[in-house]
Amino acid sequence: MAGQQAPVRVGILLSGRGSNFLALHAAIERGEVPGAEIALVASNVPEAVGLAKAKDLGLATFSVDHRGLDRGDHERALLVALRVARVEWLCLAGYMRKLSPVLVGAFPRRILNIHPSLLPAFPGLHAQRQALDYGVRVAGCTVHLVDDGLDSGPMVEQRTVPVNDGDTEDALSARILESEHQAYAFALRRLLSEPWRVEGRRVRFGPDSNQM
Ligand code: GRF
Repeated sequence: MAGQQAPVRVGILLSGRGSNFLALHAAIERGEVPGAEIALVASNVPEAVGLAKAKDLGLATFSVDHRGLDRGDHERALLVALRVARVEWLCLAGYMRKLSPVLVGAFPRRILNIHPSLLPAFPGLHAQRQALDYGVRVAGCTVHLVDDGLDSGPMVEQRTVPVNDGDTEDALSARILESEHQAYAFALRRLLSEPWRVEGRRVRFGPDSNQM
């Protein structure tokens, strides 16, 4: 169609059940992330439930087991598949490995991650348990651009949820997960549809007044 831009090709990396991938997929299907399409769902875990769900949805999938490969070789194998699928943006959705410069460098400021805490609090594994053990009264999730660090890139979106007295790790995780499913699509939509730039650690939306 004249004037219509080609969709942005989004790759998903996951290692597990893939609920964030499914929420993103559903949001795209509902038209809530205009101009995005999922071009490939890839995993380091060939038996990941999320990968099977992607196949059921008719999406292109790829897996390469990380076991027995060094991190660089593993990521180079993923990168070949992402390149073949002409992926432009990468969304980590429960991808349980820290990225090396191989992938971070291949998609500069084009990789998103979702983490189940209000970063910079509680990076790494078991963020919800860390939050409960610390005794915070408010928890939440963060969508951020990925850099070479652990859960450390510039933040795009954060959502809060209350921590209730008597919360178990499962109860808090479920409450945070609901907000993750909203936040991820919201963040991707903004990044794909609004002007933005990174200033220091901050993601700034809107026109750059220095360029006007
Ligand atoms: C989510 O809590 C996400 O924030 C974290 O890993 C979990 C993945 O869950 N990075 P799912 O596989 O998307 O259901």
